Amino acid sequence: MTPRNDYSGWSKEDLIKKVKALEKRKKYGLVWDTEREPEKVALDCQTQLPTLKEIKENEIQTGKDDITHILIEGDNYHSLSVLNYTHEKCIDLIYIDPPFNTGASDWKYNNNYIDANDAFRHSKWLSFMKHRLILAKRLLTTRGFLICAIDANELFSLGLLLDEIFGESNRVGLVTVIHNPKGRNLSKHFSENSEFMLVYAKDISSAIFNDVVIDEDKQATFNLNDDQGKYRLEPFMRVRTSWSRENKPKCHYPIYVSKDLKDITIDKKPDYYEVFPKTEDGREWAWKNVPGTFVRLNKNGYFVAVAKNKRVEIFHKYREKQVFKNVWTNKKYQSEFHGTNVLKDILGENAFEYPKSIHLVEDIIKITSKKDSVILDYFAGSGTTGHAVLSLNSEDGGNRRFILCTNNENNICTEVCYPRIQKVMRGYKNSKDENVSGLGGNLKYYKTEFVPAAPTDKNKELLTRQSIEMLTLREGTFEKVSENPSYVIYKNSEKYTGIIFDQLSFEKFKTAVAKVNKPISLYIFSLADEDFSDDFTDMKGLLKICAIPESILRVYRRIFR
Ligand SMILES: C[S@@+](CC[C@H](N)C(=O)[O-])C[C@H]1O[C@@H](n2cnc3c(N)ncnc32)[C@H](O)[C@@H]1O
Repeated sequence: MTPRNDYSGWSKEDLIKKVKALEKRKKYGLVWDTEREPEKVALDCQTQLPTLKEIKENEIQTGKDDITHILIEGDNYHSLSVLNYTHEKCIDLIYIDPPFNTGASDWKYNNNYIDANDAFRHSKWLSFMKHRLILAKRLLTTRGFLICAIDANELFSLGLLLDEIFGESNRVGLVTVIHNPKGRNLSKHFSENSEFMLVYAKDISSAIFNDVVIDEDKQATFNLNDDQGKYRLEPFMRVRTSWSRENKPKCHYPIYVSKDLKDITIDKKPDYYEVFPKTEDGREWAWKNVPGTFVRLNKNGYFVAVAKNKRVEIFHKYREKQVFKNVWTNKKYQSEFHGTNVLKDILGENAFEYPKSIHLVEDIIKITSKKDSVILDYFAGSGTTGHAVLSLNSEDGGNRRFILCTNNENNICTEVCYPRIQKVMRGYKNSKDENVSGLGGNLKYYKTEFVPAAPTDKNKELLTRQSIEMLTLREGTFEKVSENPSYVIYKNSEKYTGIIFDQLSFEKFKTAVAKVNKPISLYIFSLADEDFSDDFTDMKGLLKICAIPESILRVYRRIFR
């Protein structure tokens, strides 16, 4: 047998071809066996296109507010494909907590659980993640973030994958979360008590963290307030051997304080107290800054003099700008107490093994999104992200909306996620038999469905008929105004959506919306890509027309290429 790298018998042309191919090869980054076993759910989209079907009986309306949240049951590859049409560049935050690929059969690829004996388990996991991350990235707004929970099993490969998809320069950071301080007793080496979150921005130059408080305990020490916000007083004298008078002679100087303690200066003045950095026992220390810096800082009441035990002491105001540390140790992030037990309290049983702490997700949302943001979790599991959104909205009056996507593995969607969201929205009796008030909000529940992809007239018509849910979701107009075989009309408080299936019904449609004085998004069925604007010139000002199914097919052609 010829050795693998024996090129001696190759022709010049073949060698040139080989060199060219080698030069094109990826030079740096992640390489895996992508084609070993392609993912069925992705392949399926070559022959059938995903749409949504509303499960009307699962709709939740609490009447408390008019915010409509979304739950989509199905494989998230399909849900994300649909969202590529309905929500391109509309999502402000994507938080995901995917299966960690621990080797303990914690996820399925092509309907099979992947365990430690699968030699291609890393390749399969990476293909699975990549397909979805590419679709997810398109959904983010320019200032959007994607945050992915992960543990040590796939941290390194996920980091490289995300660097590849988002660009290394858009990597915002890696956060370590102490989610289980006890660790695991049975660990042979390190007992893991932490997990990670990889944080990426769609475009780091536009991505801004909010100035919010997430460490409430620490914030409580900032107990004073002035027109610049909260502060606490800290001594201006530094008592430490390295800050003795001998070690820091330039920082040992007198400060003069008026008798009413209001004027503080380094200019010597008669009748002022002369204050040196000196403790009661007579030991001499240094101020924190040299005189020049003192003068610069001594504005807007930065220094405060306090009379104490017949002495005058100098303090300065200490404020902390919220810089977020990348190790999160707060007890509120422990998944047992603020994840598992929270869920148990709502559903009355241990319904799901690994929910995240609700406070962890709340803090992520607080830092990275706005009060009216759209927040997506496409590995929603027990629905912690939805719960966190509802709880923040109720706390600060926000209008955040969530979109949760999950499959129904072990009935996670129908028996855990949906009932949890329903109870949190409507209110429930907790495990102590106490009434917990509902947080409000409304929910639309969809399942993914399919239409054949072959571009026949019949299939195009079918896709159009089955696109009502996608179009009303895209427009956010969920209230049905009228429905008949040739057109449907939906609305919300600000606008209308019309979908016309039959070109002979233009006039009927016009009559139906004649009195509507609000913007109308009009989708018209067309086998070609014709939008019929000429037929609607009389309604020009209020109308935005789009031909379907072509506008949907354009997106699907791009993503399923
Ligand atoms: C680790 S859990 C997420 C838990 C969630 N963060 C919580 O707090 O409850 C991952 C979830 O993703 C779901 N999942 C796995 N593969 C999926 C897929 N292809 N499409 C949709 N959901 C999937 C699983 O059913 C599981 O519930």
